[in-house]
Parts: sequence; C-alpha cells; structure tokens
Amino acid sequence: MIIKSLEKLNLLAHRIGEKTSNTDCIFLSGEIGVGKTTFTRNLIHFLQKREKIKLTDVLSPTFNLLYEYKINNLKIMHYDLYRLKTVKEVKDLGIFNDLEKNIKIIEWPELIKNNIKNKIELKFAHSINEDERNLEIIGHGKWENFKINEL
Ligand SMILES: Nc1ncnc2c1ncn2[C@@H]1O[C@H](COP(=O)(O)OP(=O)(O)OP(=O)(O)O)[C@@H](O)[C@H]1O
Ligand SMILES: [Mg+2]
Repeated sequence: MIIKSLEKLNLLAHRIGEKTSNTDCIFLSGEIGVGKTTFTRNLIHFLQKREKIKLTDVLSPTFNLLYEYKINNLKIMHYDLYRLKTVKEVKDLGIFNDLEKNIKIIEWPELIKNNIKNKIELKFAHSINEDERNLEIIGHGKWENFKINEL
C-alpha cells in the first residue's frame, strides 16, 4: 500500500495501535530515514493519549538499543538493532527471554531468528515523492487477517 504523507502514517499507527496488546511483536524494516521511528512515536503517543497519560519523548534507540515505555497495563520495548552485526549478539540481548508480557517494537529486525506468534511485519520503502512511502504488511498469528482498506 501507499502511505501518502506523515498524516497517513499517523493514521496507520492508530489503526495498528488500537489492536495492539501485550505479547505482540511489531517488526519494522526499511532503509535509514524511511519512517520506522516516526511510526513508533505515533503509535506510542496514540496509546499514551488513549490511556490518558502524559506524552513522553520517543527517541530513536540507535545507541541505547532499547527504550521502554510503561503505559498503564501496557509495556512497550522499543528496540533498534542497527548496530548489531551477528545473530549471536541479537540472541544475547534476550529480547524474547523475558516471560513478562510486553509489546516489542523492533527496528532492523533482520537478524532475529525466533518464531514469534503474534507478529506484524511492516516493510517500508522510499518512494519518488519525498513524503510518500510504500508499505508491505505481513501478519502472523492474531495479525494474520489484519487488513487496512483505506487511510
Ligand atoms: N510518509 C512518511 N512516512 C514516514 N516518514 C516520513 C514521511 N514523510 C516524511 N517523513 C520523514 O522521514 C523521516 C523518517 O525518519 P525516521 O527516523 O522515522 O526513520 P527510521 O526509519 O527510523 O530511520 P533509522 O533506520 O535511521 O532508524 C522523518 O524525518 C519523517 O518526518
Ligand atoms: Mg529509527
């Protein structure tokens, strides 16, 4: 599908955010600057507004690897694995070790080998128009039949 603008990206984040619950996993792929962090910020702000808690900064975890957000009963783990080079490094992070239920949003997930049940993959690509993006959505588990008809 085509994401025409930042506003449409925000709507996409709302559509996904309203269906997101603990144990979900969101994989975000695509080149640098394609909008993975912007999508995540929109999604987290959507949930913070819905849960009536104060909006926080949502920064890129490129250097920290992980930022966490507690939104009432939801816990969001926002990862950026860009700097990691091997499957072992990713495994050692223990992203899927915690039995604790949380939402994992992962930028640069290509080195992840686990099979996660409720996973939605968003594959972004740049377009010739600067503010437009192409997006492929692949759902697994509860997301398998997830469809966005129109934004
Ligand atoms: N339709 C759009 N969707 C997403 N981002 C857009 C769109 N139009 C413009 N942008 C801009 O593109 C940039 C996306 O940057 P962002 O940091 O979200 O990318 P990223 O995929 O997280 O990059 P990185 O791989 O470096 O983490 C932002 O400056 C955003 O405002
Ligand atoms: Mg990013």
